[in-house]
Amino acid sequence: MATVTFDKATRIYPGGDKPAVDGLEIEVGDGEFLVLVGPSGCGKSTSLRMLAGLEDVNAGSIRIGDRDVTHLPPKDRDIAMVFQNYALYPHMTVADNMGFALKIAGINKAEIRKRVEEAAKILDLTEYLARKPKALSGGQRQRVAMGRAIVREPQVFLMDEPLSNLDAKLRVQTRTQIASLQRRLGVTTVYVTHDQVEAMTMGDRVAVLKDGLLQQVDSPRNMYDKPTNLFVAGFIGSPAMNLIEVPITDGGVEFGNTVVNVARDAIKAAADKGDRTVFVGVRPEHFDIASGEGDGLSKDAPAGLAITVNVVEELGADGFVYGSAEVNGETKDVVIRVGGRSIPEKGSVLHVVPRAGETHVFASSSGERLSD
Ligand SMILES: Nc1ncnc2c1ncn2[C@@H]1O[C@H](COP(=O)(O)OP(=O)(O)OP(=O)(O)O)[C@@H](O)[C@H]1O
Ligand SMILES: [Mg+2]
Repeated sequence: MATVTFDKATRIYPGGDKPAVDGLEIEVGDGEFLVLVGPSGCGKSTSLRMLAGLEDVNAGSIRIGDRDVTHLPPKDRDIAMVFQNYALYPHMTVADNMGFALKIAGINKAEIRKRVEEAAKILDLTEYLARKPKALSGGQRQRVAMGRAIVREPQVFLMDEPLSNLDAKLRVQTRTQIASLQRRLGVTTVYVTHDQVEAMTMGDRVAVLKDGLLQQVDSPRNMYDKPTNLFVAGFIGSPAMNLIEVPITDGGVEFGNTVVNVARDAIKAAADKGDRTVFVGVRPEHFDIASGEGDGLSKDAPAGLAITVNVVEELGADGFVYGSAEVNGETKDVVIRVGGRSIPEKGSVLHVVPRAGETHVFASSSGERLSD
C-alpha cells in the first residue's frame, strides 16, 4: 500500500494554449478512496493518466509512497487501472481474462490460479470462471474487469468512470460493491467520475476540478456543508443549491420582503471588497415555509420570499417544488424540498424563509465563500 502525491502536476497537450491540468496538488492517504469529479473536459482523465504514466507531466511531479514516478514507464509504477471501456478478451474465459496480465508478467500457473480464485471469491464470480464474457451480464463483466485489477495486487487502483456502461440501477448496486471492496482490500484508490452522487457516496474524500484547476478537496460532508466557492456550491448536491444574488443592506441581505440575517463577517468582507451584492446560497431542504399557501397578493401576505409553484416532483418520502420568485426586480428559479404529505398545488404561492444558520454567502466579484 502507498500514498499518492500530485505535487503541482501540470499537463499541457501539444498545441494546447492552456494546461488541461494546472498545478494539481493532492495528497491521497494510504488506503484512502479519493474521487476526482468535475464536468466534462475539466481534466479528470488527464490527471489519472499522468498518475498511470500514460500522459507526460510537463511540470511538477507525482509520487507513489516515497518513489518519484514522474518519469517511470507505466509498468514500473505498481498500479492497476480499470477503464470505462474495459474490453474483455471475448475468446478467453473469465479466469483467463483475469489472469492474463499475470501470465504476461511470467508468474507461474499455480500462483495465477490461486490469485484468480481468491479474486473470484471476493467478487462473487467463482461459478462464472469457465464462461466467456458474452455469457455474462453487464454487471458481471464489470466485476471481471475489477478482478483483472485485483489479481495484480497493486499499490494503487486507478479507475476512470468504470460504471458508466451500466444501467442506472446496476450502477447504484455496483458502486456500493466497489466502495466496500476497496475498504476490505485497503488499497489506495483514485476514482474518476463526472457524477457528483457517485463521488459523494463512494469517496473518503472528493476532489472537485474545473478547467484543469483544483477547486476543493474535502470529505463529502464538508464539501456539502462548506463549499469553498460558487462553482462547488452549484456542482455538489442534487437538486443544486439555490444561489441568488441579493443586495446588501444594514444587518443582512434583502430576500423578498424580509431581511435575512446572514453572517455579519461575511457581509463585512463583501463590503470591504467594494461589492454591493452577495450570492446567498440555500439548499432545497433548508427553507422553512412561512405559512400555508396563499395568493401572495394580499397586503398582509406573510413574510418571506413569495414563490410561485411551477412544477412539483413527488418522490414519495418527500418532494421538490420548482418555483419562481421576484428578487431585486428579476425572476429567479428556486427549488424547495417539501415533505411528501405536504406537496403544494401547481400555481399556488408559498412564502419561504431560509433557515437560520443554513445560509451560505459567496462574493459576487470572486465567487469565493465568505461565510464560515
Ligand atoms: N490527447 C489530447 N490532446 C489534446 N487535448 C486533449 C487530449 N486529451 C484531452 N485533451 C483536452 O484536455 C482537457 C481535459 O480532458 P480530460 O480528458 O482530462 O477531461 P475529463 O475531465 O476526463 O472529461 P470527461 O468527463 O469528458 O471524460 C479537455 O479540454 C480535452 O479536450
Ligand atoms: Mg474522462
